[in-house]
Amino acid sequence: MRPRPLLVANWKMHKTVEETRAFGRELARRLEELAGAGPLPEMVVCPTFPGLWPLSRTMVGTGVAVGAQNLDLGREGAMTGAVSGYLIAEAGAAWVIVGHSERRQHFGETDALVAEKVAAARDVRLTPIVCVGENEDEYRRGETGAVLDRQIGALLDRLSGEMWSELVVAYEPIWAIGTGRVPSPEEADRTAAGIRDRIRDRHGAVADGVRILYGGSVSPKNIEQFWRQPAIDGALVGGASLSVSDFVAMAMVGMNL
Ligand code: PGA
Repeated sequence: MRPRPLLVANWKMHKTVEETRAFGRELARRLEELAGAGPLPEMVVCPTFPGLWPLSRTMVGTGVAVGAQNLDLGREGAMTGAVSGYLIAEAGAAWVIVGHSERRQHFGETDALVAEKVAAARDVRLTPIVCVGENEDEYRRGETGAVLDRQIGALLDRLSGEMWSELVVAYEPIWAIGTGRVPSPEEADRTAAGIRDRIRDRHGAVADGVRILYGGSVSPKNIEQFWRQPAIDGALVGGASLSVSDFVAMAMVGMNL
């Protein structure tokens, strides 16, 4: 039997603290109604930094985990504006998204920095969800494989086999993020399998334990086709995760797989 799928909400720069709490309370209520209906997917919600502590308090006892959307290197120190993994974990998060394409694009994060951040996350026992994927031009030119060689290669160079056993990779084609366009499920599956092969080439069977998510315009309508693919273990959802109803609808799809 396959493990429970993983459903991760990436709220990006959305929701005030009050809105975050309200989402959490409503989600808890809806999940209570579903109790006993079947195994739900594993769920992680990634709010803004100010939302971490209030959401983690609201989710206590629900089985829903909380994650951050980024971390900075180090623990504490003279780093104005930075938030370390240590502080994130202390604020009640167990997960962290690393190297999202928006971080790479707007904040200049390089493959090497992303790999460093993944290692830093593991140091404080946060589970990293590291994002990879090609942009529109690279996709058109058929360069997805080369992009993944570079992005996964940087991770392989930095991380030990043991670190991979606690890692989630999200394949997010940049041209599918927020656009309503998606690759075919078969194509996403082939790419996910290719990511696992790259890890297997270096670390053997450890690769089988790495969960690989698909992300990019996932919605209640299309999530099932991605989840049914053999190499895809879950979804990283942006826009559609901002509504409790859509989030619960996606969780229910996971329950019926
Ligand atoms: P989207 O975002 O679901 O709104 O396309 C996904 C993501 O950026 O993680």
